Amino acid sequence: MSTSSYSAQILEAAAFIRKETGIQPEIGLILGSGLGIVADLIENPVAIEYSSIPHFPVSTVEGHAGELVVGSIQGKNVVMMKGRFHTYEGYGVETVSFPVRVMKELGVRTLIVTNAAGGIDTSYEVGDLMVISDHLNLTYRNPLIGPNDNNLGARFPDMSEAYSRRLRQLAHDTAAEQGLSLREGVYAGLLGPSYETPAEIRMLRVLGAAAVGMSTVPEVIVARHAGIEVLGFSCIANMAAGILDQPLSHAEVMETTEKVKPKFLKLVLGIIKAL
Ligand code: ADE
Repeated sequence: MSTSSYSAQILEAAAFIRKETGIQPEIGLILGSGLGIVADLIENPVAIEYSSIPHFPVSTVEGHAGELVVGSIQGKNVVMMKGRFHTYEGYGVETVSFPVRVMKELGVRTLIVTNAAGGIDTSYEVGDLMVISDHLNLTYRNPLIGPNDNNLGARFPDMSEAYSRRLRQLAHDTAAEQGLSLREGVYAGLLGPSYETPAEIRMLRVLGAAAVGMSTVPEVIVARHAGIEVLGFSCIANMAAGILDQPLSHAEVMETTEKVKPKFLKLVLGIIKAL
């Protein structure tokens, strides 16, 4: 794909969304497995199916059409991806991160990303919430590979504060006000879709990872390239392989995120209010 056609695609997708909604969002939300419930908090929501947005990736999983929801939360205009794309589904990293480019074009300055992750830090418990301090990109992919469009961002973007220190502090302050315990740690992003082996988890622990998952990294790299400030959360949905004497399952991930929903919702609401 030439850079000019890529930027033309971003502009066309954004123009379509603008025309449909008439709203300029300032906050973008990309929510992980089971946490899409935040969509229910959006006031005066306008939902647009991904399939109707020019150049937008379309989910290949039946029954998971995916839509963009635009509206407001706590008086702030937001755009939310209800349904995200993962590299393990076969999408390229540039496809997974395309919606972030479109968010930027729409006016988004702050991105809140969440995911369900496996706990590597043995002091963590299933159901804990972790604010992401930093990530390890272990996907062996980068969405910025290829010709760089200087209008979109720098050729060699700085990643020394990928997850905003200011927003992390805001998250801790909000959690403290709510009497909620909030961990902070490094998120290791892997391709999946198989869960890690116990040996891989031991390796990740040595590397400094506190949690592991299969998303988030491409979107955050593109957000930083675009100059968007990022706040990330992992919901510790299960303990990673080898920690507990039991196999990992997606059912457990869904069960945990279901239980965590109320405190997670409250935290996200509190943060949006404080932003
Ligand atoms: N998502 C939820 N739990 C996970 C784990 N243990 N590894 C990778 N991704 C996950």
